[in-house]
Amino acid sequence: MKNQNTILITGANRGIGLELVKESLVTGLNVIGTYRNIKNSKELIKIKSEKLKIFEMNVIDEKSILEVSKNIKKPIDYLICNAGINNGFGTIFEDDHSHEKMLEVLNINVLGCVLTIKNFIKNLNNNAKIILISSVMGMQAHSGSSATIYRASKAAVNNIMVSISEDLKSDKITVTSFHPGWVRTNMGGPNATLSAKESAESLIKSFLNLKFENTGKFFNYDGSLMSF
Ligand SMILES: NC(=O)c1ccc[n+]([C@@H]2O[C@H](COP(=O)([O-])OP(=O)(O)OC[C@H]3O[C@@H](n4cnc5c(N)ncnc54)[C@H](OP(=O)(O)O)[C@@H]3O)[C@@H](O)[C@H]2O)c1
Repeated sequence: MKNQNTILITGANRGIGLELVKESLVTGLNVIGTYRNIKNSKELIKIKSEKLKIFEMNVIDEKSILEVSKNIKKPIDYLICNAGINNGFGTIFEDDHSHEKMLEVLNINVLGCVLTIKNFIKNLNNNAKIILISSVMGMQAHSGSSATIYRASKAAVNNIMVSISEDLKSDKITVTSFHPGWVRTNMGGPNATLSAKESAESLIKSFLNLKFENTGKFFNYDGSLMSF
């Protein structure tokens, strides 16, 4: 029997988020996809399915999140904080790491997850799963220093994931983070090892296998446990 649960995916208009939408629909899930800008969302808009609802939402604009929260009818079983940016490759000594750009990365990648979770908490179903899309680049043990603040943002994502998992333990809500693999998207670039479809297929299977005992943990896209 097809899975009738509801999944909400942020940053659903392109890259990994868009493929998560498509794979969720294949699985039978009801899907709520959010996009920041209609102009960049042509492929998402083209998807014709009664099971897909799309909403405009910027993860760092609390009003826009609340608007979506008010307008969704079904309780959410899977809340996927996928939206993210990396507008700073290189080291902190390069121009990409201006104060403004560093703040933007931290704001969208970290506070975007916090604001999304805070405002959708009332929409969550019993035993819901919250998934933050993190990255292997956030691991403390690493060599190389490129994308310093992006790395820091994903380390912070894993850290807030643990705190939120503790906060929601008594409600039996599972909170985890996932590395999606190195994926051929605008962010991952053309040399990445996985297509967005391969990453999303594997991620959706792993999300559907999550159990409450997994709360507070960081996983690879294939469901194997990762260290922080
Ligand atoms: N690709 C990889 O190899 C890789 C590896 C590890 C982790 N990740 C993580 O996976 C996630 C998805 O990455 P991707 O590769 O699919 O990147 P992408 O192709 O660049 O897509 C990023 C998505 O995030 C959205 N977004 C950015 N800022 C937003 C905001 N303020 N509000 C709402 N949406 C916003 C973008 O919307 P717009 O179209 O409006 O910009 C877009 O939909 C990110 O969290 C990323 O850090 C990716």
